Amino acid sequence: MSHILGIDVGGTGIKAALVDTETGEFIKEKIKYGTPSPSTPANVSGVLNQLIDDFDYRGQKVGCGFPSIIKNSVVHSASNIDDSWLGVDLKEYFLNEVGSEGVFVNDADAAGIAEMKFGKGRDRNGTVLMLTLGTGIGSGLFIDGKLVPNTELGHLTYKNSVWEKYASNGARKKRDLSWEEWGKCLNKYINHVNFLFSPDLILLGGGVSKKFENFSEYIELKELVTPALMQNNAGIIGAAMSASEL
Ligand code: BGC
Repeated sequence: MSHILGIDVGGTGIKAALVDTETGEFIKEKIKYGTPSPSTPANVSGVLNQLIDDFDYRGQKVGCGFPSIIKNSVVHSASNIDDSWLGVDLKEYFLNEVGSEGVFVNDADAAGIAEMKFGKGRDRNGTVLMLTLGTGIGSGLFIDGKLVPNTELGHLTYKNSVWEKYASNGARKKRDLSWEEWGKCLNKYINHVNFLFSPDLILLGGGVSKKFENFSEYIELKELVTPALMQNNAGIIGAAMSASEL
């Protein structure tokens, strides 16, 4: 089956679309709801059920990106989602709550998977790093096209905290930073990550990558850094692609 519902659970929004996993295109337009607060499993279940109804998709398999470390479908971190997710097995949760089988991956890994197949990472060998700039910072690391799952490069430490608290798009909004202030901070972060990994390509994803021209002048590594093609749809597409072999 090549038409799969891709779901992207984020700290701010939960979105889904029916995706043709062979072309990366949406068969039905995406639908987005706000992430409930608190974002507990019970509250998120309400939104997921609504999405399944919206797409008339009950009982069919889903692919889901989640803003956490995911190993064998179990949630191992919770920075931008309620702590009560820790230890939840998403496979069981989805079966019990929405009646769907599924494949579950970190949201930035999902975005990278889509970008490597249909976007700017297509046919790129070497080290490609996808950074998603949303509520937090997610990372998807690819070596010769193969994913190294669950890298958490938004959590590199910085100023007694972690980089995503300064350089994410969420931080830009929360701290009311100008494009220049935020752009310079993001530049510093990118330079740091570049020093650690020496990637051949750095893709910037998340909704703010649509506004790349607002901050591109502050990014020094011009030859390495480029906005992702699918921006904030990549997470949905990659999640659906992950489920295509289930
Ligand atoms: C989480 C990552 C996630 C990123 C983007 C971070 O806070 O730790 O797992 O990929 O946010 O949602």
